[in-house]
Amino acid sequence: MFWFSYSKATSCLVVLTLASLLTPVLAAAGDPDKSDSAKVGKAIYSQTCIACHGANGKGALPGVSDFTVADGPLAKSNAELAKSVNEGLATPGAALSMPAKGGNPSLSDDDILALIVYLRSEFGE
Ligand code: HEC
Repeated sequence: MFWFSYSKATSCLVVLTLASLLTPVLAAAGDPDKSDSAKVGKAIYSQTCIACHGANGKGALPGVSDFTVADGPLAKSNAELAKSVNEGLATPGAALSMPAKGGNPSLSDDDILALIVYLRSEFGE
């Protein structure tokens, strides 16, 4: 009798422990889009964008926007940023212009969204 209730209590504990171990895993799995996008975005950034924008997002060449400043490009909406990346950006008088799709015409809309998620997660506030 004693053994029975002891083992019942133990298995209860095991279930509780497992549940608490799984909770963070499940919470992370609940938001797969965001973390996957940031990963995809990072991979594209390091191939297509890093030469001009730099690993630190501050801009590796004169005239390139600094992503890390509070009122910089990342203060714009996703739609505005997607438009800039899609079509490029040439501010009159700027030392350099942003080529459409960073010069990589094969980027899809999903790729561009993933890039924006990455920019915000890496260089945003
Ligand atoms: C040849 C250099 C170059 C490459 C490659 C490049 N950029 Fe840019 N990017 C620029 C320059 C220069 C600006 C600033 C343009 C301006 O202000 O007229 C800029 C601006 C931006 C902005 C700010 C747009 C805005 O609306 O303020 C974003 C976002 C951006 N780039 C994202 C990217 C992404 C993502 C990639 C890779 C897919 C990329 N860039 C590749 C040079 C580059």
